[in-house]
Amino acid sequence: MSEKVMINNKLSDAVEEAIRTLRTNIQFCNTDKAVKTICLTSCIPNEGKSSTSINLAVSMARDGKKVLHMDADMRKPRSYKDVTSRFNVGLSNYLSGMVELDEAICETNIENLHVMVCGPKPPNPAELLGTERFRQMLSVLKEKYDYVIIDTPPLGSMIDAAIVASLTDGAILLIEYNTVDYKKAVMVKEQLEKANARILGVVINKIPRREFRSYYYYDYDYYYGRKSKRRSKTGDAAV
Ligand SMILES: Nc1ncnc2c1ncn2[C@@H]1O[C@H](COP(=O)(O)OP(=O)(O)O)[C@@H](O)[C@H]1O
Ligand SMILES: [Mg+2]
Repeated sequence: MSEKVMINNKLSDAVEEAIRTLRTNIQFCNTDKAVKTICLTSCIPNEGKSSTSINLAVSMARDGKKVLHMDADMRKPRSYKDVTSRFNVGLSNYLSGMVELDEAICETNIENLHVMVCGPKPPNPAELLGTERFRQMLSVLKEKYDYVIIDTPPLGSMIDAAIVASLTDGAILLIEYNTVDYKKAVMVKEQLEKANARILGVVINKIPRREFRSYYYYDYDYYYGRKSKRRSKTGDAAV
């Protein structure tokens, strides 16, 4: 772990605030069962999983927690824009037995934040994620870090995220505002439930600035109006 991955994390105040809310809400989920390993998935590509998961990891690290961000999206890896080829040793190398765990983890320019890049794209991501080696790796990482944040492929077309979600303490479903239809979102939620995942909540991402306030107030009214029916919602990583 000698060289550092540079994470460029300049956020607008509004996004910063939304991510802080998400972080706080996750901390509130730490009730009877600790939530240390968390995966983020979505229905389709480009909804914002990588951006949101890395922003969340940075926010937790800045809050003094020891955090590992893992790029388990072996279909479209790219959590860290600035990663150069010499850092391309990570999850796939470790899962296929080519390196030790320490060699698959890099430090970053942000204190308390380590990352595990995807590594070379394997031909069989779902198979690798379903191995005992992956399960055991998660339990080792839980001892070393306060939080392990895992970026996964969209669950609408690939099964990988359900496999990861079944092995983690919690899953967050990220949905891009006004993009994914209701049926698809329900289908993905049901897939997570079938995998016995603990769904921590839903993040609605990329809410346009003009909509944000009314969306926030709608949610607030809904909470007080129909408290018993309110589904948990982790935060609005959006603007
Ligand atoms: N809250 C947001 N507001 C504006 N743009 C966003 C937001 N979240 C993500 N994006 C942009 O959307 C694109 C896809 O994001 P990315 O995180 O790579 O998605 P995914 O990992 O789900 O495929 C990127 O260009 C990213 O900068
Ligand atoms: Mg991504």
